[in-house]
Amino acid sequence: MIKRIFDWLKQPLGLIAVGIAFLALFSVAAYGLYTTQQAPAQPIQFPHQTHVAFGIQCLYCHPNAAKGPTAGIPAQAKCWACHQQIAKTQTSVLLAPLKDAVLSGTPIEWVPVAIVPDFVQFNHRAHIAAGKNCEECHGDMSKVTIAQNPQVMNMGWCLDCHVKNAGEDHVKLVKLTDCGTCHY
Ligand code: HEC
Ligand code: HEC
Ligand code: HEC
Ligand code: HEC
Ligand code: HEC
Repeated sequence: MIKRIFDWLKQPLGLIAVGIAFLALFSVAAYGLYTTQQAPAQPIQFPHQTHVAFGIQCLYCHPNAAKGPTAGIPAQAKCWACHQQIAKTQTSVLLAPLKDAVLSGTPIEWVPVAIVPDFVQFNHRAHIAAGKNCEECHGDMSKVTIAQNPQVMNMGWCLDCHVKNAGEDHVKLVKLTDCGTCHY
């Protein structure tokens, strides 16, 4: 019976069936990757690339990345400090929601992009102190509009880099791969 199936799979029609099965699997996987890397709909089409090109530092808008666990998203007052002086703010369709938010005093509800579950302890400060730069984990933000993840931020991703960074240092390896380092 099994042999007959294999024989059939070797026939032209069988090969086409195998091909279709592979394509189906591949597109499911590709779609999964595509959806995780899609930027979500945001209240403002905030262009990272424009701001980074003007020489505004990541830490100017996300200062807590160097100081604590979360990097933080700038409040609209920080946007407005610049934008109320920029002529384009009065006419730009893209900036209308910012103007509305400031005038009405309602905070902008940004949709999180880079996020790990609550039971995972991630701390920016430790990573910045160890010399990691934003780009290694968030990709090149000088090329994107709305932020998107360059990779899935799962346990394998964290451990991969931790193992690489520990190198021959056994004590460090134990610490950086210990369950209690990231889950407590
Ligand atoms: C002018 C302010 C500004 C600058 C400069 C800036 N950002 Fe942002 N950043 C934002 C805003 C606003 C958002 C929320 C909108 C979004 O998700 O795209 C954001 C979102 C992000 C996110 C996703 C956060 C989430 O919600 O999960 C990452 C990661 C990020 N920025 C990294 C960077 C890096 C790296 C740089 C420097 C190369 C940078 N940003 C420069 C304002 C800024
Ligand atoms: C340090 C100054 C500065 C800060 C802070 C800043 N921006 Fe900007 N932003 C600019 C400049 C400069 C431009 C380009 C204006 C131009 O093209 O004339 C710009 C452009 C934009 C545009 C594109 C407008 C268009 O029509 O092309 C949007 C949207 C925007 N900013 C939103 C924001 C938001 C939201 C924040 C706060 C999270 C923010 N900006 C913070 C300086 C700033
Ligand atoms: C070692 C990897 C790594 C590096 C380096 C890193 N980040 Fe992150 N970033 C993450 C992870 C993981 C999350 C999700 C954290 C969470 O959900 O608690 C995140 C979340 C964020 C967020 C959104 C949530 C928050 O923390 O407010 C912003 C904004 C951000 N990072 C900006 C930056 C900036 C700016 C830098 C550089 C100064 C940077 N990150 C460096 C891994 C990194
Ligand atoms: C790009 C590489 C890289 C990635 C990705 C990464 N880490 Fe790290 N992580 C490091 C380095 C380097 C250190 C500091 C090691 C040392 O002590 O010198 C560190 C340290 C830590 C520490 C210890 C902080 C302390 O108090 O000493 C924790 C907790 C941690 N990482 C959690 C995570 C989690 C959770 C993720 C995934 C969401 C992650 N890391 C992804 C490189 C990375
Ligand atoms: C360097 C950080 C880090 C270390 C060390 C670590 N984890 Fe995780 N763990 C994560 C992250 C990040 C996730 C979230 C995965 C996701 O969102 O897919 C996670 C998820 C999990 C989950 C949830 C199941 C899942 O797939 O979502 C379990 C259970 C778990 N870890 C157990 C462990 C155990 C047991 C150890 C020790 C052998 C350990 N972890 C060590 C970062 C870590």
